Amino acid sequence: MFIVANWKAYVESLAEAKKLAELAKRLAAKTRVSLVIAPPAPLLAFLAARNRSSIGFAAQDVSAETGGAETGEVLAQISASAGATYAIIGHSERRARGESDEVVARKLAHALAQGLIPILCVGEHERDAEGGYLTFVREQVSSALEPLEPKERSRVILAYEPVWAIGKTSADAIVPADLGEMVLYLRKLLAELLPGKSSARSQVLYGGSVEPSDIRALAGGTQVDGFLVGHASVEPSTFAALVKAVA
Ligand code: PGA
Repeated sequence: MFIVANWKAYVESLAEAKKLAELAKRLAAKTRVSLVIAPPAPLLAFLAARNRSSIGFAAQDVSAETGGAETGEVLAQISASAGATYAIIGHSERRARGESDEVVARKLAHALAQGLIPILCVGEHERDAEGGYLTFVREQVSSALEPLEPKERSRVILAYEPVWAIGKTSADAIVPADLGEMVLYLRKLLAELLPGKSSARSQVLYGGSVEPSDIRALAGGTQVDGFLVGHASVEPSTFAALVKAVA
């Protein structure tokens, strides 16, 4: 099982970040859960530089540019050299700030070119009875993957994050049956877009109000490979409970 702790802007000090990273290292050593933490960029550089543990690091975003006069942008190569192995791309909180599918595709290409493993976030804003959300998600995935070389497409991890389920409580998360259906749909789509049988090795994650009380139900029988966790990853006892629940 794979858990990505997306700290967003919840962690407000280096001291808090160090404590959470130490906890993640201890949990990774004690369990067989693969843990990746996604701290804000300056903290990533600090924490990853001293990392001799089995936890991995993810950038929360990468720039759509490759350099130049771009104040405030963090390039994929900077995150890679600071110690990131992964990069979250196309998170709905970035898309809400105007990030289009075309920008997401450019970010994906830059991350891959710098050797980062992209975690591509997709997800509908709401569910309609006619199944329009499936077309919406399909479009997000295809517009991001189609411009890539077939071999590059195989390196992308998909994170299904329905916007309606993000930042709430476990009562508002997706129900396991619906998640299982979506994972199946995404795997079929990956089989169409990826070369040969490589989609069999692709990872599909879920994110949106994953908490200790729902993670086991969401993990069981849905064929999901792991979770992208926001608010429940920054409170130490909740995060420990979450990891232990799937360990
Ligand atoms: P949440 O966030 O766990 O707080 O819902 C998940 C995400 O946005 O990645």
